[in-house]
Amino acid sequence: MRPLDLSGKTALVTGGNRGIGLALVRELSRAGARVTFTARNQANADAALKELDGTVEARVCDVTDRAGMAALLEPGVDILVNNAGVIGPIGHIAEVDPAEWARNIETNLTAAFAATQSALRGMVARGGGTIVNLSSGAARNAMEGWSAYCSGKAGLAMLTQCVAKEYGDRGIRAFGFAPGVVDTDMQGAIRASGINPVSQIPRGNLAPPEEPAWAIAWLCTAEADVFAGQEVDVRHEPFRRAAGLEIRA
Ligand SMILES: NC(=O)c1ccc[n+]([C@@H]2O[C@H](COP(=O)([O-])OP(=O)(O)OC[C@H]3O[C@@H](n4cnc5c(N)ncnc54)[C@H](OP(=O)(O)O)[C@@H]3O)[C@@H](O)[C@H]2O)c1
Repeated sequence: MRPLDLSGKTALVTGGNRGIGLALVRELSRAGARVTFTARNQANADAALKELDGTVEARVCDVTDRAGMAALLEPGVDILVNNAGVIGPIGHIAEVDPAEWARNIETNLTAAFAATQSALRGMVARGGGTIVNLSSGAARNAMEGWSAYCSGKAGLAMLTQCVAKEYGDRGIRAFGFAPGVVDTDMQGAIRASGINPVSQIPRGNLAPPEEPAWAIAWLCTAEADVFAGQEVDVRHEPFRRAAGLEIRA
C-alpha cells in the first residue's frame, strides 16, 4: 500500500496494543505521525512497544477512566482514533448479564463520547482535527447474540454524525470506519461463541489488520475530506476507489 504523509501530526489510538489498533499505530507512525496509544496495563503496553519503532509512546489507561483519558487528550491531539472495543456479552437478550451489557456500552460508546469531548476542545481551538470511530456492519444490521455490540456501534455511528453536524464547519472531520471481518482476537471470541453467521466464517477467510489500518490512516489525510461526517466501509467499492485500494471482483 502506498506511503501516506502525516508528518507533523499527533495521534492517539485507544486500545493500540493488539489487533487493528496495533496495526494502525504502526501505520500512523510509518506515515510520520507522532503516535501515542493506550493499553489497559503495562505488560500489554510493553509487549506492543517491542513490536514498534522507538518513536511510539504508550500510556496505561482504561478507556472508561474518564479523568485518565481527559488528562491524555486535553493537552491536544490532531488525530483521535476510538478503536478500543469489546464484543461481549454474547448471548440472547433474556440471558445476558445486564452489568456486562452496560460495560459494553460504556466501553464502545460512552468512552468514545468522553474521549471525543476531551479532544474536541483543543481541536476546535487549533482550527481542525480528525476523529475516527471504529464502526461495524453491526451498527446497521441486528446480529443474533450481539445486542450490546450492535446497540453500542449504532450509537457510535450516530455520535460520528453528531460530531460532524456540530463541528464540521469548524474543521473537525469525523468518520465512522467499518474495517470488514478482520483476523483479530475479537473474531476468535466470536468463532468460539458459535452464535450467528459471523462465528461460522473460517479464520482463513478473515482479512489481515494491515489493510483496514492503512485505510484509517488514509482517512486522516486531506485526500479523504469527501468522506467527512460519513460511515465508510473498507469493503465498499466507492471507498476503495477513492482510497486507491484494489477493487476485488
Ligand atoms: N475484528 C473485526 O472483524 C472487527 C470488525 C468490525 C469492527 N471492529 C472494531 O474494531 C476495533 C478493534 O477491534 P479488534 O478486532 O482489533 O479487537 P481486539 O483484537 O479484541 O482488540 C481490542 C483492543 O481494545 C482494547 N480494549 C478493550 N476494552 C478496553 C478498555 N476498557 N480500555 C482500553 N482498551 C480496551 C483491548 O485491550 P486489551 O488487550 O487490554 O483487552 C485491545 O487492545 C473494535 O472497536 C471493534 O469493535 C472489529
